[in-house]
Amino acid sequence: MIYLAPIQGFTDFVYRKAYSEVFTGVDTFFIPYISLKNNQILKKFEKEILFENNPQKNVVPQVLVKDGPEMLDLSNILKNFGYNEINLNLGCPYPMVTNRGKGSGLLPHPNKIKSILNGFFEKSDQKLSLKVRSGLIQPNEIELLVPIFNEFPLSEIIFHPRIATQLYRGEVLLSAFKKVSELSKHRLVFNGDIFNLSDFKNMQGLFPNINNWMLGRGILMDPFLPSEINGIHFSEEEKRAKKMDFHQMIFDTYSDKMDNQGNTLNKMKQFWSYFSFGFPNQHKVFKKIKKAGSVEKYLNVVQTIFRD
Ligand SMILES: Cc1cc2nc3c(=O)[nH]c(=O)nc-3n(C[C@H](O)[C@H](O)[C@H](O)COP(=O)(O)O)c2cc1C
Repeated sequence: MIYLAPIQGFTDFVYRKAYSEVFTGVDTFFIPYISLKNNQILKKFEKEILFENNPQKNVVPQVLVKDGPEMLDLSNILKNFGYNEINLNLGCPYPMVTNRGKGSGLLPHPNKIKSILNGFFEKSDQKLSLKVRSGLIQPNEIELLVPIFNEFPLSEIIFHPRIATQLYRGEVLLSAFKKVSELSKHRLVFNGDIFNLSDFKNMQGLFPNINNWMLGRGILMDPFLPSEINGIHFSEEEKRAKKMDFHQMIFDTYSDKMDNQGNTLNKMKQFWSYFSFGFPNQHKVFKKIKKAGSVEKYLNVVQTIFRD
């Protein structure tokens, strides 16, 4: 099974919907985290979870919480929106989040995590999975947590084996992944730095018991990666046509939804920090995109890039 990782600002409902219309190979789509503000969810989060914006079969929303009451509020809101399964974020590494005791800020506090899980499983009949890192500061923080996770009927644990201070850089801690796979009684999902088919095969070789894989940046860079992992290959010409369709779809939707052309342009430029890896001379492609000063210029540059 291949999961699309939640990537705030990128794998939003516009991206996910267009992706599932053009590409194949992703089995489950994760919605980037939603959180509470004054006991409510913001409009931008509501759009992410609305049923009509999530036509795929398997969509799992993710929550970012600081304590048990927030967890229950969000799980109730998501239940009312029709979701029977949710994912708890125990991995977000950014200080703005961790300093508020959320995301990987919870990892050094096993008792807090236990109380969130206790409260959830006492009151909710939804399924719950976790997305975790190795630790906030120490790579072995996870080892104290796995025995706690083992006490609960979690559906699975998605593990990105890095500590928070690494953000998304530096080495993936393969030994931490191995350790957790030995300690955990739950199904483990591997997540981290699978950018091409050979990365996938390497990880599959290292962890032959793992059947579920979450891919994030690898899919943003190469949307064909999930189908290739499934053994489905396309010609260069087919790939180009599909990528152009996909680009047009997300461009049109953002143009419709955004307040002004400048915002659409910025949004599309952000995507090219990943899309550019799908072209020879990534650096040059991204530079050309960044230079485009208007939507018209941007569309011309995109046309040239696809043509050449
Ligand atoms: C810009 C950005 C935003 C992210 N947002 C989320 C998020 O909302 N929730 C989450 O669990 N992980 C988030 N992640 C982490 C990814 O889901 C994933 O764990 C990480 O990118 C490692 O996987 P990859 O190497 O396949 O990309 C984010 C990562 C990036 C780079």
